[in-house]
Amino acid sequence: MAILLRTLATLAAVAGSSHALTHGSSTQQSQAQPSISVSSNSPFSLSVHYGRQTVHNSAILAGNTNSSVTPISASSAGSIANGAGQISATVINPQVARISVNTISGFVGARFTASNSSKFYGVWEYPWYNRLDNAGIEFDFKGLGDSDGINWSNARAPFFLTDDGYGVYADTLAMGSFDFSQPGSAQFVFNTSSLVYYVVLPETTGDYKSLLTAFAGLSNTIEMPPDSGYGPTFWSDDFEEDFHAGVHNAQENYYDVIDHLYYNQIHASSMFADRPYGTGNSSFGNFDFDPVYYPTPKEFIANLSHWGFDFQVWAANRAFLDTKLYNASVANGWLFPNISAEFFQGPALNLSIPEAYSYLKEHMSYFPSVGVKGYKIDRGEEEEMPVWEQNVQMTLFEQLCYETMVEKWGESNFYDFARSAVDRSRVRTAVWNGDSHSNYSGLAYSVTSGIRAGLVGFSQWGSDTGGYIRGLNDPAQELWARWMWFSTFSPVYEIMIGTNHTPWYPPYTSELVDVLKETANMHHDLLPYIRSYTYQAHTTGVPVLRVAFLEAPADAKAWSLVDSYFFGSEFFVAPIVSEGGKRTIYFPEGTKYLEYFNKTAVHQGGSTCEVDLSVHYVPVYVRAGAIVPRGDIFQANNKWTDDWQPELTIELYPSADVPYSSFPYYNGAAKSQVPITMVVDAVSGDVAVEYGAVGVNGTLVVFTKSGMMKATLTAQGGAANFTGVVSLFDD
Ligand SMILES: *[C@@H]1O[C@H](CO)[C@@H](O)[C@H](O)[C@H]1NC(C)=O
Ligand SMILES: *[C@@H]1O[C@H](CO)[C@@H](O)[C@H](O)[C@H]1NC(C)=O
Ligand SMILES: *[C@@H]1O[C@H](CO)[C@@H](O)[C@H](O)[C@H]1NC(C)=O
Ligand SMILES: *[C@@H]1O[C@H](CO)[C@@H](O)[C@H](O)[C@H]1NC(C)=O
Ligand SMILES: *[C@@H]1O[C@H](CO)[C@@H](O)[C@H](O)[C@H]1NC(C)=O
Ligand SMILES: *[C@@H]1O[C@H](CO)[C@@H](O)[C@H](O)[C@H]1NC(C)=O
Ligand SMILES: *[C@@H]1O[C@H](CO)[C@@H](O)[C@H](O)[C@H]1NC(C)=O
Ligand SMILES: *[C@@H]1O[C@H](CO)[C@@H](O)[C@H](O)[C@H]1NC(C)=O
Ligand SMILES: *[C@@H]1O[C@H](CO)[C@@H](O)[C@H](O)[C@H]1NC(C)=O
Ligand SMILES: *[C@@H]1O[C@H](CO)[C@@H](O)[C@H](O)[C@H]1NC(C)=O
Ligand SMILES: *[C@@H]1O[C@H](CO)[C@@H](O)[C@H](O)[C@H]1NC(C)=O
Ligand SMILES: *[C@@H]1O[C@H](CO)[C@@H](O)[C@H](O)[C@H]1NC(C)=O
Repeated sequence: MAILLRTLATLAAVAGSSHALTHGSSTQQSQAQPSISVSSNSPFSLSVHYGRQTVHNSAILAGNTNSSVTPISASSAGSIANGAGQISATVINPQVARISVNTISGFVGARFTASNSSKFYGVWEYPWYNRLDNAGIEFDFKGLGDSDGINWSNARAPFFLTDDGYGVYADTLAMGSFDFSQPGSAQFVFNTSSLVYYVVLPETTGDYKSLLTAFAGLSNTIEMPPDSGYGPTFWSDDFEEDFHAGVHNAQENYYDVIDHLYYNQIHASSMFADRPYGTGNSSFGNFDFDPVYYPTPKEFIANLSHWGFDFQVWAANRAFLDTKLYNASVANGWLFPNISAEFFQGPALNLSIPEAYSYLKEHMSYFPSVGVKGYKIDRGEEEEMPVWEQNVQMTLFEQLCYETMVEKWGESNFYDFARSAVDRSRVRTAVWNGDSHSNYSGLAYSVTSGIRAGLVGFSQWGSDTGGYIRGLNDPAQELWARWMWFSTFSPVYEIMIGTNHTPWYPPYTSELVDVLKETANMHHDLLPYIRSYTYQAHTTGVPVLRVAFLEAPADAKAWSLVDSYFFGSEFFVAPIVSEGGKRTIYFPEGTKYLEYFNKTAVHQGGSTCEVDLSVHYVPVYVRAGAIVPRGDIFQANNKWTDDWQPELTIELYPSADVPYSSFPYYNGAAKSQVPITMVVDAVSGDVAVEYGAVGVNGTLVVFTKSGMMKATLTAQGGAANFTGVVSLFDD
């Protein structure tokens, strides 16, 4: 039997809660105000009603170990009798119900029950069994190491959403576990006696983007990266080796990369030093560069910067034996106890100790002082600390890294990226997906992990192009080329070269350099587009690399597409993730798709096609009515063009099916969003385009059956009319 929320409020009041029953202000909603009801039957459960739907929070769990939690009984839910404690539930706005549980037990959790066919998404970036949803998975809320496809793919957030239409966010950094192993059930338990979690509802039924936005409102969103943060980024696992002709140290090894990119006219915007680069044991912990390999670090970084490259260095919360960091930590008792420093990985500092935090921050400030603009933030889940500290410590370390940089460079002027990043750290660091395997399953898993990263709010994402875990002959040339195309249509394009794996050195052929150039330059040219969608991720939490169901929620097939995705809203991308160039592509319902390279083939949503493509293509499609801003608007390493000037092209793909389209363009210099709109008159064939102050001059291009129609694009904004347009999308 259900009783009304008022009764729950009374229960909460009995237990001394001061929570008022605040209903969200009744702004215009296509959905009625949600309500909460609780069951007086045992166990205690509550339901959140919205529209015609109901979220069943079928049990709230407590206990003294994580494996012995049991449902709190109805009789004890609202009082502190039986040690069960106190529960309060409140609708805080039309999209969010807040549930707070305070117990004297060591572990608290909750269970949600749905139909057996319901799917649950989120929590981990890592794609178990190369799947999008978590069916059958029971795992801790922590990083994982050795796995199929990718090791250490460890962005995570205590948030899941279901295809039933709602999400749940547990607001905690405590260690815990999520259990999706029973069909129709999702459960979590955390190592804490008090827990606040939220049931997140859509703005209108079926609007899954709005779920991500509501989650972002409770948690946070990514910070805007600098323009160099999207890449292409070139790095080597060891710049201190693999010296080719004319190279005598690490500095010159970077110059060798700069020169090859220059002579091949390949766009790039940053490079970074992985380990080793410092003196001392395992190269990190003396806060320096090894003078043997980096004789003049400050001048070296200034030179990189002169050539258009930002530069980052590797960092981890790790005290390697006998380093400055280790000695200071031992002397002050900052290391986590009982973790052997003899073990190559070294123990972590307990950054919850304020003096440890200050020491590390102060010493790491050396790096920005010599021009370093960000860190590759490694590890944090390799047993260098007690497992229950992982989420807290990585959050602290990423905050520390961020602070050393932001104090020198200011917001959005440097680039940190991590592999183990938890929930709100997304505002402090971007992520890469860890150690992908240099084979086709590594590529396939990387695509799926990129989709999954977006579902937990980590939009600023990339993978090691070619894979990280490389055998002697990896990556194979074709694999590398296919991966380059995936990175072109990833928010970040970063590529590991060096150590016998450099596209312009044997065993690779010039065809691979061609593909590198095609892909790197296309990614660079898509910066206006990618950056605009990154700004949307920053403001709304909706990621750049999007699971198909965000754009096509009504299409059941969109809920399990692991090898294709929307890139922003205009592009549909289906990377080739197996050898040979053939694949089947399913087009999600709701629009038509134009093949982007040749611009002839049109596919209906709901249809399927087979492709067989050389390494010079990737299956990419633009949807009917698309607006795609592109162009060379960021100079970076482009020193080969005399009198370089930024230039923007706005591509327009009118269709009679789409009378009105708009694109929120992000003007980087003005740090503001400006609209681009297109109105199509299907009868007359007139297409009217209007745009705000895009800040850069260039060209408007309308793609039609009779070729391209062009008009001038002016920096301060303007409009243009095109007449007699015959759409490529229409028969
Ligand atoms: C309990 O916690 C331990 C340590 O974090 C973990 O290994 C285990 O998987 C957890 N078990 C459950 C059922 O949550
Ligand atoms: C749902 O799954 C459970 C566990 O596998 C099973 O016992 C139950 O019969 C299923 N319910 C329905 C309605 O299929
Ligand atoms: C990662 O993956 C590789 C290749 O599959 C494997 O050999 C290695 O042991 C893995 N483990 C770790 C911890 O990196
Ligand atoms: C700066 O970098 C360029 C680019 O490769 C290199 O040729 C030059 O020698 C470097 N200058 C110095 C002073 O190291
Ligand atoms: C750290 O201490 C060890 C042992 O006392 C010493 O050998 C080493 O030189 C010290 N390291 C640094 C960087 O001071
Ligand atoms: C560290 O290990 C020793 C020996 O195994 C043990 O006696 C001690 O309690 C441990 N300390 C902590 C803090 O775990
Ligand atoms: C470096 O650390 C290892 C253990 O991780 C240790 O065996 C070795 O002696 C250390 N070397 C120096 C120079 O301190
Ligand atoms: C880390 O330091 C904090 C603050 O001093 C302390 O409360 C916590 O117990 C420490 N963690 C471990 C595992 O020692
Ligand atoms: C729970 O956290 C406490 C520290 O707050 C720790 O001592 C304990 O080992 C953790 N339990 C598990 C199962 O991780
Ligand atoms: C574009 O056309 C060329 C020439 O017909 C063909 O080889 C290539 O596969 C096509 N590319 C795509 C992506 O369809
Ligand atoms: C755009 O072009 C106009 C006309 O040539 C010129 O006056 C203006 O300075 C240019 N604006 C920018 C931002 O390049
Ligand atoms: C485009 O056409 C509309 C309607 O005919 C007209 O009002 C507008 O001024 C035209 N704009 C331009 C830039 O020609």
